[in-house]
Amino acid sequence: MHYPYQITSYEQYQAEYKRSIDDPAEFWSSVAENFQWRKKWHTTLNWNFTDPKIEWFKGGKLNITENCLDRHLEKSGDMPALIWEPNDPEEHHRIITYRKLHEKVCQFSHVLKNNGVKKGDRVCIYMGMIPELAIAILACARVGAIHSVIFGGFSAQSIADRLYDAQAEFIVTCDGAYRGAKDIPLKSVIDDSLIGNRTVKKVIVATRTRTAVSMIKGRDVWWEDEIKKVETLGLHDFPAEEMDAEDPLFILYTSGSTGKPKGVVHTCGGYMVYTNYTFINVFQYQTGDIHFCTADIGWITGHSYIVYGPLSAGATSLMFEGVPTFPDAGRFWDIVDKFKVNILYTAPTAIRSLMGFGLGPLQGKNLSSLKVLGTVGEPINEEAWHWYDEHVGKHRCPIVDTWWQTETGDCLISNLAGITPAVPSWATLPMPGLQMVLVDENGKELVQEGEETISGNLCIKGPWPGILRTTYGDHERCRTNYFATYPGMYFTGDGALKDKNGFYRITGRVDDVLNVSGHRIGTAELENAINMHAGVVESAVVGYPHDVKGQGIYAYVIYQGSHGQDTHGTADLVRKDIIQTITRIIGAIAKPDKIQFVSGLPKTRSGKIMRRILRKIAEGDLDSVGDTSALLDPAVVDEIKNGKL
Ligand code: PRX
Repeated sequence: MHYPYQITSYEQYQAEYKRSIDDPAEFWSSVAENFQWRKKWHTTLNWNFTDPKIEWFKGGKLNITENCLDRHLEKSGDMPALIWEPNDPEEHHRIITYRKLHEKVCQFSHVLKNNGVKKGDRVCIYMGMIPELAIAILACARVGAIHSVIFGGFSAQSIADRLYDAQAEFIVTCDGAYRGAKDIPLKSVIDDSLIGNRTVKKVIVATRTRTAVSMIKGRDVWWEDEIKKVETLGLHDFPAEEMDAEDPLFILYTSGSTGKPKGVVHTCGGYMVYTNYTFINVFQYQTGDIHFCTADIGWITGHSYIVYGPLSAGATSLMFEGVPTFPDAGRFWDIVDKFKVNILYTAPTAIRSLMGFGLGPLQGKNLSSLKVLGTVGEPINEEAWHWYDEHVGKHRCPIVDTWWQTETGDCLISNLAGITPAVPSWATLPMPGLQMVLVDENGKELVQEGEETISGNLCIKGPWPGILRTTYGDHERCRTNYFATYPGMYFTGDGALKDKNGFYRITGRVDDVLNVSGHRIGTAELENAINMHAGVVESAVVGYPHDVKGQGIYAYVIYQGSHGQDTHGTADLVRKDIIQTITRIIGAIAKPDKIQFVSGLPKTRSGKIMRRILRKIAEGDLDSVGDTSALLDPAVVDEIKNGKL
């Protein structure tokens, strides 16, 4: 079956693109009409990028879970909504139909309500990749609460910061999570995050690993006990809260170039319409397809393409608890064969890591069910693209290279599978409704002419329904971060090329944000964490090319602690201490790959660190550090070069 707004030819893409730019409100209104609204909107679009103020489908009333669950019950109630594959292949998988998922979401909505959760409350979710995570998200949306999912790799301190920023009163977590050979003690991390916390009233704990956990009377309750109470009362339905299209749906924290992570806010109506539209068009989803997005729901990719995109389309979404290399590097391929997966969506870093195991793990795997492959999160190098195409897709499956961000909600630049051309390592064309532009450093728009390929900073001229609306509790931060660099435009923070066909190739971040294994890490945030270590005087962090992770983290550290490497020859131990400190402050995902101890950093006379020089050295490009005469202490550059790791 085709959806009424599914693009089925290149010509149609061009026509739809033109229509969407000529009259965005009319275009998105015609898409939005295909959803279930309690009341139709009175104003399709109202916006300016100065405040910024962005409203889509204002006055429209809906609940996103009625679109993700209720509206599929009559026709597809018995169809699998979620397929869950556990970490351990010996454990039984779970298949949850739309009817069952609806019931479970309704029951957990009652649990939330019984525990005091109301419309607008912030609920922090810190769980492993089990179906209860998707259920908790949808139940929050059903009662009108704002969910804020935190990835399981973040530390107690990071959680505490996010709880405070969101003023969250509720947490949903698990005793522990399985990831590969590891058990992660989630509840214990939550307990640490709650020391000194004064806002959280209730913690709901689902059982997964049945690790021993502390349960505090009056605050902590077991998920299963609470569900039993609801079941005893025979409650299987929960009337969904009526939301305005512009009511917040969720907050997701992400790193930027300055300070602490910011809470990106997405709203109910626009996010729903745009997520669904991109899911159907980019992947060319057909009824009955099994969609396997390997991301964690702790990131935006999981929100949009495991939960809201597929479920709003009535699709079957496969959720995997584990990692691609456990119990061996053939796990993804086993899952594809086991469930006859049709669409596989993963990250370049996973592809590169699996390439490292050679072709052995692919031996004997069928993979003939695959129709479409996708990548997301970072630029994909041509070698990885061709490996994916040849050994996984067997040259039969179009690869969609989807470029987008936490702030954009969903995919903005991508080929449409099998419909528009795919070019290795090029994200290619903007989605309908997206007016991308490249600008130079002064904000001057660059115009592509003739055969030339131009290069610039990637900006967007107007709003699309999935754009962030604000950063939680600090609208000014939203303005300065995204809308002030180039007035009148949304600035992505990425650099890009544009060729004669109008295709885009993303070259990577041009701000101080690293992309390590597809995870965003702000250098300022990481430097703050390193500087918290008692012996550290100052530090500077840059990225360098890494074969598997895309970017590795290189930290230059001025260290004067009494356990310093020069006094006691214990440099490695000090490095471990610093890594421990980072793991406490941010989480294990932010560990540097290399830490070089230096006596000074290259600074200008006004005290600014010359990161360009540090980047060149980290990249091993020692001869092109350029002119250093303007530095306060040019000699430090030679010392750093000599000590390069
Ligand atoms: O630099 C771009 C890179 O990931 C950044 C967004 O990170 P995050 O908000 O964590 O979202 C990741 C998942 C959407 C972007 O600014 N990025 C994402 N997709 C691609 C990409 N870089 C190149 N090609 C992509 N397909």
